[in-house]
Amino acid sequence: MSQHETSPIRHLECGKCHAEHTANEPQNCCKECGGPLLARYPIECGRPTLAEVLARRPGQNRLHELAPSARGANAPTLGEGATPLIPAGRLAQELGLPNLLIKDEAQNPTASFKSRGMAAALARAAELGIQAVCLPSAGNAGGAAAAYGALHGIDVHVFVPESTPKPIIDETRALGAQVELVQGTIADAGAALAPIAAERGWFSLATLKEPYRLEGKKVMGYELLYDLGQLPDVIVYPTGGGTGLIGMWKAFDEMQALGWIGSERPRMVSVQGAGCAPMVQAFDKKLKSAPVWEDPAPTQAFGLRVPGALGDFLILEALYASEGTAVAVAEQDLLADTEVIAKRLGLQTSPEGGACLAATRTLRNKGWIQEQESVVLFNTGHGMKYL
Ligand SMILES: Cc1ncc(COP(=O)(O)O)c(C=O)c1O
Repeated sequence: MSQHETSPIRHLECGKCHAEHTANEPQNCCKECGGPLLARYPIECGRPTLAEVLARRPGQNRLHELAPSARGANAPTLGEGATPLIPAGRLAQELGLPNLLIKDEAQNPTASFKSRGMAAALARAAELGIQAVCLPSAGNAGGAAAAYGALHGIDVHVFVPESTPKPIIDETRALGAQVELVQGTIADAGAALAPIAAERGWFSLATLKEPYRLEGKKVMGYELLYDLGQLPDVIVYPTGGGTGLIGMWKAFDEMQALGWIGSERPRMVSVQGAGCAPMVQAFDKKLKSAPVWEDPAPTQAFGLRVPGALGDFLILEALYASEGTAVAVAEQDLLADTEVIAKRLGLQTSPEGGACLAATRTLRNKGWIQEQESVVLFNTGHGMKYL
């Protein structure tokens, strides 16, 4: 039996029309409707207990029964995952939120949460015999793809907006990927890449256009339970394409199916920049999908400048079902709060992390978050990559 046949995944299910697809060959979007594919596992068979999983070494492969790689616990790794939950100290006091924690995804191998998704996607791509991959990226995903492409011996082609910070472009090239700079946003980078990828036969790793990056990112949700013993009341997450938020939401459903938690869920908060806030606009209008944001403003929070997301309906579903919300943060506020985290806490976050603090502040001031609630704010990248 070849390696790929033994992936723990039972099948891939379209998030939109629910059509089923095999996980034993390379897959992008649903062949029926173009929707994103979600990995489904035979949870009723495997069923490790939470205690069994907690006894294993921390890290991304801890729950390998619910991960795409056929190599399970032996999937190659750069040490991604198991990022710390840092108490917000003086900041927590100032906000009147004693139970505020920051999950610091900057402590991943490529200094952002994008390591997690690419670890999963490229491990599976290697098993399926894929030799060249490509993606449009706001920057961090490209750097992560480059690292895991190098690990697995897969060629990586990245198209990024020309406004991408130079340290991230340098990182991506240093890790051996080909980088093309494109005028405009990640959507323009995607449009420039598509015909070239089709001509050269590169496999697309674009956000939610393949099923396994989400599987890597969902582990952030599992780690909250591993570390806290229960889920927090509120999760504040910066949203571009939305894979972090959708991934955690998927993890909670799996954890319930495993019998690890009940039906309770954290209230999910999607944070965007005011100059490109399609999810916030759609949430405010109670829409099921988000119209594309015309003319997104430049921002330091590059990862949030996503005018249209393939998984928009999944993000909105999670926000409604969890009685969460969506918050748009002005550029000066996200920059000011990035500085506040650095100077009050000693943590150099990405502007996307600063945006989450600004959103938390707003929600606390409005009384949407109560003093005694436990809140986890995500810092998704390292500030040094933006200097
Ligand atoms: C640091 C950072 N935070 C947040 C995001 C948004 O992530 P997603 O597109 O998965 O919503 C990105 C995406 O590029 C990012 O680089």
